[in-house]
Amino acid sequence: MTTSKVPSLKFPDGFLWGAATAAHQVEGGNFNTDCWTLEVTKPSLFLEPSGDAVDQWNRFADDMAVLSAVGMKSYRFSVEWARIEPEQGKFSVAALDHYQRCINACLERGIEPVITMHHFTLPLWVVRGGGFGAPSFPDLFARYCEKVARSLRGISVVCTINELNVPLLVRELIESRLMGPASAARIELAEKALGAPLKTSFLFSPAEALIDNGLSAHAKARDAIKSVLPQAKVGVTLAIQDEQAEPGAEHIRDKRVADYITPFLNGVRGDDFIGVQTYTRAVARKDGSAGPTPGHRITVMGYEDRPQALAQVCRYVWEQTKTPIVVTENGWAGNDDRRRCEFIRDSLTELHAAINDGVDVRGFFYWSLLDNFEWLVGYAPKFGLIAVDRSTQRRSLKQSALVYGQIARDNAIQGAAAAALSDAASETQGRLGGGALGIG
Ligand code: BGC
Repeated sequence: MTTSKVPSLKFPDGFLWGAATAAHQVEGGNFNTDCWTLEVTKPSLFLEPSGDAVDQWNRFADDMAVLSAVGMKSYRFSVEWARIEPEQGKFSVAALDHYQRCINACLERGIEPVITMHHFTLPLWVVRGGGFGAPSFPDLFARYCEKVARSLRGISVVCTINELNVPLLVRELIESRLMGPASAARIELAEKALGAPLKTSFLFSPAEALIDNGLSAHAKARDAIKSVLPQAKVGVTLAIQDEQAEPGAEHIRDKRVADYITPFLNGVRGDDFIGVQTYTRAVARKDGSAGPTPGHRITVMGYEDRPQALAQVCRYVWEQTKTPIVVTENGWAGNDDRRRCEFIRDSLTELHAAINDGVDVRGFFYWSLLDNFEWLVGYAPKFGLIAVDRSTQRRSLKQSALVYGQIARDNAIQGAAAAALSDAASETQGRLGGGALGIG
């Protein structure tokens, strides 16, 4: 079957197509952070330690070769504060040089690097000083961001803080993990190892620390970056689910939105862009809970498997803020790569319709480029377009990488049929030849 007879859903010129990762989830050996410390404290709140992760610290350029070969145009990755400023006020030239080499590896291949300054992990000295809640936090964060902006060449798009609001979205989940018979002892051990209360670690931060200090840290960092790089586009990213309600539970949904979405949208309206990160829909119920619709297919993350959620959220964010959107994360976790292909196609088809209706979306970053360390739940959930055998660190392309790469190359979905996607994939597979890349 050829793809020529099916309609082509063209995206706007200059639409940025990429994939995303975060330092702690892929680099490996990120010792000087709160998360590493919590992972290796026994018994741990984390299912397993990140360890070598997928060794992107040493394999960055190889990963960029693959990303560009399959057709993507951009890579969103984070630089690690704990490596760049391992002690307060002391900056590591070696770490900055490393990230310069990463940026160069992108630029040499025509890949636009999108840099995230903070993606969940904090240097130990920051948590020991009070984390996001410390009065000094906004200035410390802005100083670090300014240092990065001054030191690294080739940066034009920056996300200051990844999912500034996510601790509020996952609070119930985290609290449920912290309950149970052994938890008081686990928390005590965790706090002893950190040398600070658990709430100084980003994922455990309370609302005030995020809404007051977090938004102020973002604003100061944005201004500091722009003072050095006036042309740079700077935004924050937010975790936003498609919040819906069963009849009679609208007030529950509205409270959820008021708690974890509205203060943040109000705080960043008018930025260069808002990074939207959507994985699912949550339906509020009259008993006060919210989650997947009963009976609906769910992913290994326990999320309702709902590709339509992304476009719904983009419509909502646009309506509320009239601020350009970059989808900085959207993806599907599980081993059924065929379903991942469908999920990507369906999310993008809905997104295309939203763009046609006037929603200003400038780019899309699939989460994640590689299977990687999924925080508290370790390595089991597989989000990647590229699989990694962690016993050898060998990469192998999944079909979804080829499908998505073809969409990126065409700047269009060539028809809505799954068959068309397979055609696209096999064309790309033929062109690339797995062997040439030394992968799968
Ligand atoms: C985070 C990622 C995470 C992904 C999938 C987002 O909340 O930014 O670090 O791996 O969701 O759960």
